[in-house]
Amino acid sequence: MKNKNIKLRPSELIYGTMGLGGGWNKNPIEKKDIIEAQEAIEAALEIGINFFDHANIYQFNKSEEVFGEYLKSNKSIRDKIYIQSKVGIILGTEERKGQFDFSYDHIIKEVTGSLERLKTDYLDCLLLHRPDPLMEVKELKATIDYLFKNGMIKNIGVSNMSQHQIKHIAHYIERPIVANQLEMSLYKLDFVNGGVLFNQPGYNSIDFPIGTLEYCNRKGISIQAWSPLARGIYTGKELDKDVPLRVLKTKEMVNRMAEEKGVTGEVIVLAWLMRHPASISPVIGTKNPDRIRATKGASQLVLTRNEWYDLFITSRGEDMP
Ligand SMILES: NC(=O)c1ccc[n+]([C@@H]2O[C@H](COP(=O)([O-])OP(=O)(O)OC[C@H]3O[C@@H](n4cnc5c(N)ncnc54)[C@H](OP(=O)(O)O)[C@@H]3O)[C@@H](O)[C@H]2O)c1
Repeated sequence: MKNKNIKLRPSELIYGTMGLGGGWNKNPIEKKDIIEAQEAIEAALEIGINFFDHANIYQFNKSEEVFGEYLKSNKSIRDKIYIQSKVGIILGTEERKGQFDFSYDHIIKEVTGSLERLKTDYLDCLLLHRPDPLMEVKELKATIDYLFKNGMIKNIGVSNMSQHQIKHIAHYIERPIVANQLEMSLYKLDFVNGGVLFNQPGYNSIDFPIGTLEYCNRKGISIQAWSPLARGIYTGKELDKDVPLRVLKTKEMVNRMAEEKGVTGEVIVLAWLMRHPASISPVIGTKNPDRIRATKGASQLVLTRNEWYDLFITSRGEDMP
Protein backbone atom coordinates (compact mmCIF):
# COMPACT_ATOMS: atom_id res chain seq x y z
CA MET A 1 0.00 0.00 0.00
CA LYS A 2 1.25 3.46 -0.89
CA ASN A 3 2.42 5.51 2.09
CA LYS A 4 -0.22 8.19 2.25
CA ASN A 5 1.71 10.12 4.82
CA ILE A 6 5.01 10.50 3.06
CA LYS A 7 5.09 14.32 3.31
CA LEU A 8 3.71 14.62 6.81
CA ARG A 9 6.09 16.16 9.32
CA PRO A 10 5.05 15.09 12.83
CA SER A 11 5.01 17.87 15.43
CA GLU A 12 7.59 17.88 18.23
CA LEU A 13 4.82 17.95 20.83
CA ILE A 14 2.68 14.82 20.84
CA TYR A 15 -0.85 14.62 22.20
CA GLY A 16 -1.36 11.56 24.43
CA THR A 17 -4.94 10.30 24.47
CA MET A 18 -4.83 8.19 27.66
CA GLY A 19 -7.23 10.58 29.44
CA LEU A 20 -9.94 10.44 26.75
CA GLY A 21 -12.87 8.02 26.65
CA GLY A 22 -14.90 8.76 29.79
CA GLY A 23 -12.98 6.78 32.41
CA TRP A 24 -11.16 3.50 33.10
CA ASN A 25 -14.30 1.35 33.04
CA LYS A 26 -16.20 -0.73 30.53
CA ASN A 27 -19.26 1.53 30.36
CA PRO A 28 -20.20 2.39 26.79
CA ILE A 29 -18.94 5.73 25.51
CA GLU A 30 -21.41 8.59 25.74
CA LYS A 31 -21.99 11.73 23.72
CA LYS A 32 -20.22 13.82 26.39
CA ASP A 33 -17.09 11.64 26.06
CA ILE A 34 -17.06 12.23 22.30
CA ILE A 35 -17.45 15.98 22.83
CA GLU A 36 -14.67 16.01 25.46
CA ALA A 37 -12.37 14.20 23.02
CA GLN A 38 -13.31 16.54 20.19
CA GLU A 39 -12.47 19.61 22.30
CA ALA A 40 -9.11 18.14 23.32
CA ILE A 41 -8.18 17.08 19.77
CA GLU A 42 -9.16 20.47 18.38
CA ALA A 43 -7.16 22.32 21.07
CA ALA A 44 -4.14 20.20 20.13
CA LEU A 45 -4.60 20.82 16.39
CA GLU A 46 -5.07 24.55 17.07
CA ILE A 47 -1.59 24.83 18.62
CA GLY A 48 0.06 22.87 15.83
CA ILE A 49 0.09 19.35 17.27
CA ASN A 50 -0.53 16.79 14.51
CA PHE A 51 0.90 13.74 16.30
CA PHE A 52 -1.48 11.61 18.41
CA ASP A 53 -0.39 8.82 20.75
CA HIS A 54 -2.75 5.96 21.62
CA ALA A 55 -2.68 2.47 23.09
CA ASN A 56 -5.18 -0.31 22.64
CA ILE A 57 -5.66 -0.51 26.42
CA TYR A 58 -6.35 3.16 27.22
CA GLN A 59 -9.64 3.41 29.09
CA PHE A 60 -10.43 -0.17 28.05
CA ASN A 61 -10.26 0.75 24.31
CA LYS A 62 -12.50 3.77 24.72
CA SER A 63 -9.87 6.43 24.03
CA GLU A 64 -9.34 4.93 20.56
CA GLU A 65 -13.12 4.73 20.13
CA VAL A 66 -13.76 8.41 20.87
CA PHE A 67 -10.83 9.40 18.66
CA GLY A 68 -12.34 7.25 15.89
CA GLU A 69 -15.63 9.10 16.29
CA TYR A 70 -13.74 12.34 15.68
CA LEU A 71 -12.04 10.92 12.58
CA LYS A 72 -15.36 9.61 11.25
CA SER A 73 -16.72 13.17 11.28
CA ASN A 74 -13.46 14.72 10.05
CA LYS A 75 -12.23 12.26 7.43
CA SER A 76 -10.16 14.83 5.57
CA ILE A 77 -7.72 15.23 8.46
CA ARG A 78 -6.50 11.62 8.38
CA ASP A 79 -3.56 12.26 6.05
CA LYS A 80 -2.67 15.47 7.92
CA ILE A 81 -2.11 13.72 11.25
CA TYR A 82 0.30 11.07 12.51
CA ILE A 83 -1.40 8.31 14.50
CA GLN A 84 0.62 6.07 16.76
CA SER A 85 -0.78 3.29 18.92
CA LYS A 86 0.70 0.66 21.20
CA VAL A 87 0.17 -3.01 21.80
CA GLY A 88 1.50 -5.68 24.14
CA ILE A 89 -0.21 -5.11 27.51
CA ILE A 90 -3.19 -7.11 28.72
CA LEU A 91 -5.02 -5.34 31.54
CA GLY A 92 -5.84 -7.33 34.67
CA THR A 93 -9.36 -8.53 35.38
CA GLU A 94 -11.00 -10.03 38.47
CA GLU A 95 -10.06 -13.48 37.20
CA ARG A 96 -6.48 -12.85 36.02
CA LYS A 97 -3.65 -10.46 36.79
CA GLY A 98 -2.46 -8.23 33.96
CA GLN A 99 0.40 -9.43 31.77
CA PHE A 100 2.38 -8.55 28.67
CA ASP A 101 1.95 -10.35 25.36
CA PHE A 102 4.00 -10.05 22.15
CA SER A 103 2.59 -13.21 20.57
CA TYR A 104 1.47 -13.21 16.91
CA ASP A 105 -2.18 -13.87 17.73
CA HIS A 106 -2.40 -11.16 20.37
CA ILE A 107 -0.67 -8.45 18.36
CA ILE A 108 -2.57 -9.09 15.11
CA LYS A 109 -5.90 -9.22 16.93
CA GLU A 110 -5.21 -6.05 18.91
CA VAL A 111 -3.86 -3.99 16.00
CA THR A 112 -6.89 -5.04 13.95
CA GLY A 113 -9.04 -3.81 16.85
CA SER A 114 -7.16 -0.50 17.09
CA LEU A 115 -7.67 0.15 13.36
CA GLU A 116 -11.38 -0.59 13.65
CA ARG A 117 -11.81 1.65 16.70
CA LEU A 118 -9.72 4.48 15.26
CA LYS A 119 -11.57 4.19 11.95
CA THR A 120 -8.41 4.23 9.91
CA ASP A 121 -6.84 1.59 7.68
CA TYR A 122 -3.27 2.17 8.89
CA LEU A 123 -1.23 3.33 11.87
CA ASP A 124 1.65 5.66 11.13
CA CYS A 125 3.51 3.91 13.92
CA LEU A 126 2.98 0.97 16.26
CA LEU A 127 4.90 0.83 19.55
CA LEU A 128 5.54 -2.37 21.50
CA HIS A 129 4.24 -1.09 24.83
CA ARG A 130 6.28 -2.96 27.48
CA PRO A 131 8.77 -5.79 27.02
CA ASP A 132 7.17 -9.25 27.22
CA PRO A 133 9.64 -11.64 28.91
CA LEU A 134 8.18 -14.52 26.86
CA MET A 135 8.73 -12.76 23.53
CA GLU A 136 9.90 -15.12 20.76
CA VAL A 137 11.84 -12.93 18.35
CA LYS A 138 11.17 -15.03 15.25
CA GLU A 139 7.46 -14.94 15.97
CA LEU A 140 7.70 -11.19 16.51
CA LYS A 141 9.42 -10.78 13.14
CA ALA A 142 6.63 -12.72 11.40
CA THR A 143 4.07 -10.55 13.18
CA ILE A 144 5.68 -7.27 12.24
CA ASP A 145 6.19 -8.46 8.63
CA TYR A 146 2.48 -9.30 8.41
CA LEU A 147 1.47 -5.85 9.69
CA PHE A 148 3.76 -4.07 7.21
CA LYS A 149 2.86 -6.29 4.25
CA ASN A 150 -0.83 -5.73 4.83
CA GLY A 151 -0.40 -1.97 5.10
CA MET A 152 -1.62 -1.94 8.70
CA ILE A 153 1.42 -0.08 10.04
CA LYS A 154 3.96 2.27 8.46
CA ASN A 155 6.59 2.23 11.21
CA ILE A 156 7.53 0.18 14.25
CA GLY A 157 8.86 1.45 17.58
CA VAL A 158 9.06 0.48 21.24
CA SER A 159 8.26 1.85 24.65
CA ASN A 160 9.91 1.42 28.05
CA MET A 161 12.90 -0.41 26.60
CA SER A 162 16.64 -0.22 27.21
CA GLN A 163 19.22 -0.04 24.45
CA HIS A 164 19.94 -3.77 24.84
CA GLN A 165 16.31 -4.75 24.40
CA ILE A 166 16.01 -2.50 21.34
CA LYS A 167 19.20 -3.87 19.77
CA HIS A 168 17.94 -7.40 20.28
CA ILE A 169 14.56 -6.75 18.68
CA ALA A 170 15.98 -4.65 15.82
CA HIS A 171 18.49 -7.37 14.98
CA TYR A 172 15.81 -10.02 14.55
CA ILE A 173 12.99 -8.07 12.97
CA GLU A 174 15.41 -6.53 10.42
CA ARG A 175 13.53 -3.25 10.34
CA PRO A 176 14.43 0.12 11.82
CA ILE A 177 12.98 0.91 15.23
CA VAL A 178 11.84 4.52 14.87
CA ALA A 179 10.88 5.54 18.42
CA ASN A 180 11.27 4.70 22.10
CA GLN A 181 8.74 6.12 24.58
CA LEU A 182 9.94 6.46 28.18
CA GLU A 183 8.93 8.27 31.35
CA MET A 184 10.99 11.46 31.64
CA SER A 185 10.17 14.81 33.21
CA LEU A 186 11.40 17.53 35.54
CA TYR A 187 10.13 15.21 38.31
CA LYS A 188 11.20 11.82 36.90
CA LEU A 189 14.87 12.70 36.58
CA ASP A 190 16.67 9.39 36.36
CA PHE A 191 17.31 9.81 32.64
CA VAL A 192 19.72 12.60 33.69
CA ASN A 193 20.70 11.35 37.14
CA GLY A 194 21.90 8.04 35.64
CA GLY A 195 24.73 9.79 33.83
CA VAL A 196 25.42 12.28 36.60
CA LEU A 197 25.67 9.67 39.36
CA PHE A 198 27.69 7.04 37.49
CA ASN A 199 30.58 5.97 39.72
CA GLN A 200 28.96 7.81 42.64
CA PRO A 201 26.90 6.81 45.68
CA GLY A 202 23.23 6.69 44.75
CA TYR A 203 23.79 5.21 41.29
CA ASN A 204 22.34 1.84 42.28
CA SER A 205 18.90 3.31 42.82
CA ILE A 206 18.65 4.72 39.28
CA ASP A 207 15.78 3.13 37.34
CA PHE A 208 16.69 4.40 33.88
CA PRO A 209 19.21 2.28 31.95
CA ILE A 210 22.27 4.39 31.26
CA GLY A 211 23.23 4.69 27.59
CA THR A 212 19.67 4.30 26.28
CA LEU A 213 19.28 7.89 25.13
CA GLU A 214 22.75 7.94 23.58
CA TYR A 215 22.07 4.68 21.73
CA CYS A 216 18.71 5.93 20.44
CA ASN A 217 20.26 9.19 19.26
CA ARG A 218 23.05 7.41 17.39
CA LYS A 219 20.57 5.10 15.68
CA GLY A 220 18.08 7.84 14.78
CA ILE A 221 15.46 6.42 17.16
CA SER A 222 13.31 9.32 18.29
CA ILE A 223 12.77 9.73 22.02
CA GLN A 224 9.27 10.38 23.32
CA ALA A 225 8.64 11.33 26.97
CA TRP A 226 5.49 10.12 28.69
CA SER A 227 4.09 12.03 31.69
CA PRO A 228 6.21 15.07 30.68
CA LEU A 229 4.07 17.52 32.67
CA ALA A 230 4.78 15.44 35.78
CA ARG A 231 0.98 15.18 35.99
CA GLY A 232 0.70 18.86 36.80
CA ILE A 233 2.58 18.94 40.13
CA TYR A 234 4.52 22.08 39.15
CA THR A 235 1.71 23.76 37.21
CA GLY A 236 -1.35 23.94 39.40
CA LYS A 237 -2.37 20.48 40.54
CA GLU A 238 -3.32 20.38 44.21
CA LEU A 239 -0.42 18.82 46.11
CA ASP A 240 -0.54 16.36 49.02
CA LYS A 241 0.32 17.80 52.44
CA ASP A 242 3.41 15.62 52.77
CA VAL A 243 4.88 16.54 49.37
CA PRO A 244 8.71 16.79 49.51
CA LEU A 245 10.22 20.26 49.92
CA ARG A 246 12.09 19.88 46.62
CA VAL A 247 8.75 19.65 44.79
CA LEU A 248 7.49 22.83 46.45
CA LYS A 249 10.73 24.66 45.63
CA THR A 250 10.67 23.48 42.02
CA LYS A 251 7.07 24.57 41.67
CA GLU A 252 8.00 28.03 42.99
CA MET A 253 10.91 28.25 40.55
CA VAL A 254 8.78 27.14 37.59
CA ASN A 255 6.20 29.81 38.43
CA ARG A 256 8.85 32.50 38.88
CA MET A 257 10.53 31.71 35.55
CA ALA A 258 7.17 31.57 33.79
CA GLU A 259 6.26 35.00 35.10
CA GLU A 260 9.64 36.52 34.19
CA LYS A 261 9.43 35.13 30.65
CA GLY A 262 5.72 35.79 30.15
CA VAL A 263 4.96 32.14 29.41
CA THR A 264 2.98 29.41 31.19
CA GLY A 265 4.39 26.99 33.75
CA GLU A 266 3.66 24.15 31.29
CA VAL A 267 5.99 25.80 28.77
CA ILE A 268 8.81 25.96 31.35
CA VAL A 269 8.38 22.31 32.40
CA LEU A 270 8.36 21.10 28.77
CA ALA A 271 11.15 23.45 27.64
CA TRP A 272 13.31 21.97 30.42
CA LEU A 273 12.83 18.52 28.90
CA MET A 274 13.34 19.73 25.34
CA ARG A 275 16.57 21.58 26.22
CA HIS A 276 18.22 18.18 26.68
CA PRO A 277 20.34 17.32 23.61
CA ALA A 278 18.60 13.96 23.11
CA SER A 279 15.77 15.71 21.16
CA ILE A 280 12.92 14.65 23.40
CA SER A 281 9.32 14.88 22.18
CA PRO A 282 6.93 15.28 25.12
CA VAL A 283 3.68 13.29 24.99
CA ILE A 284 1.32 15.59 26.88
CA GLY A 285 -1.68 13.90 28.46
CA THR A 286 -4.01 16.58 29.81
CA LYS A 287 -7.56 16.45 28.42
CA ASN A 288 -8.25 20.01 29.55
CA PRO A 289 -8.28 22.23 26.39
CA ASP A 290 -6.87 25.25 28.26
CA ARG A 291 -4.00 23.20 29.65
CA ILE A 292 -3.36 21.79 26.16
CA ARG A 293 -3.19 25.35 24.79
CA ALA A 294 -0.89 26.30 27.68
CA THR A 295 1.83 24.09 26.18
CA LYS A 296 2.03 26.25 23.05
CA GLY A 297 5.49 27.66 22.52
CA ALA A 298 7.37 24.99 24.50
CA SER A 299 9.34 23.97 21.38
CA GLN A 300 10.45 27.56 20.79
CA LEU A 301 11.68 28.45 24.29
CA VAL A 302 15.35 27.60 24.80
CA LEU A 303 16.39 27.73 28.45
CA THR A 304 19.89 28.91 29.28
CA ARG A 305 22.37 26.49 30.86
CA ASN A 306 21.91 28.24 34.22
CA GLU A 307 18.13 28.05 34.04
CA TRP A 308 18.26 24.37 33.09
CA TYR A 309 20.67 23.53 35.93
CA ASP A 310 18.74 25.61 38.47
CA LEU A 311 15.59 23.61 37.72
CA PHE A 312 17.44 20.27 37.67
CA ILE A 313 19.29 20.82 40.95
CA THR A 314 16.21 22.14 42.71
CA SER A 315 14.11 19.21 41.55
CA ARG A 316 16.71 16.56 42.47
CA GLY A 317 16.96 18.21 45.90
CA GLU A 318 20.75 17.77 46.06
CA ASP A 319 23.73 19.61 44.64
CA MET A 320 25.73 18.07 41.82
CA PRO A 321 28.16 15.37 43.07
N1 LIG B 1 4.37 4.32 27.14
C1 LIG B 1 3.86 4.24 28.34
O1 LIG B 1 4.09 3.28 29.09
C2 LIG B 1 2.98 5.35 28.81
C3 LIG B 1 2.59 5.42 30.17
C4 LIG B 1 1.78 6.49 30.57
C5 LIG B 1 1.38 7.46 29.63
N2 LIG B 1 1.76 7.34 28.32
C6 LIG B 1 1.39 8.37 27.31
O2 LIG B 1 1.81 9.62 27.80
C7 LIG B 1 0.71 10.54 27.81
C8 LIG B 1 0.88 11.52 28.93
O3 LIG B 1 0.89 10.85 30.16
P1 LIG B 1 0.25 11.52 31.46
O4 LIG B 1 -1.15 11.89 31.21
O5 LIG B 1 0.58 10.64 32.60
O6 LIG B 1 1.18 12.81 31.55
P2 LIG B 1 1.16 14.37 31.84
O7 LIG B 1 0.92 15.09 30.57
O8 LIG B 1 2.40 14.62 32.60
O9 LIG B 1 -0.04 14.61 32.84
C9 LIG B 1 -1.38 14.71 32.46
C10 LIG B 1 -2.20 14.38 33.67
O10 LIG B 1 -1.93 15.33 34.71
C11 LIG B 1 -3.09 16.07 35.02
N3 LIG B 1 -2.75 17.48 35.14
C12 LIG B 1 -1.86 18.18 34.39
N4 LIG B 1 -1.81 19.48 34.81
C13 LIG B 1 -2.70 19.59 35.80
C14 LIG B 1 -3.11 20.67 36.63
N5 LIG B 1 -2.59 21.88 36.47
N6 LIG B 1 -4.05 20.43 37.56
C15 LIG B 1 -4.60 19.19 37.70
N7 LIG B 1 -4.25 18.13 36.94
C16 LIG B 1 -3.31 18.31 36.01
C17 LIG B 1 -4.03 15.86 33.85
O11 LIG B 1 -5.38 16.02 34.26
P3 LIG B 1 -6.39 16.80 33.26
O12 LIG B 1 -6.59 15.86 32.11
O13 LIG B 1 -7.59 16.97 34.10
O14 LIG B 1 -5.73 18.07 32.87
C18 LIG B 1 -3.69 14.45 33.41
O15 LIG B 1 -4.33 13.50 34.24
C19 LIG B 1 -0.52 9.63 27.91
O16 LIG B 1 -1.69 10.26 27.41
C20 LIG B 1 -0.11 8.47 27.04
O17 LIG B 1 -0.33 8.79 25.68
C21 LIG B 1 2.56 6.31 27.91
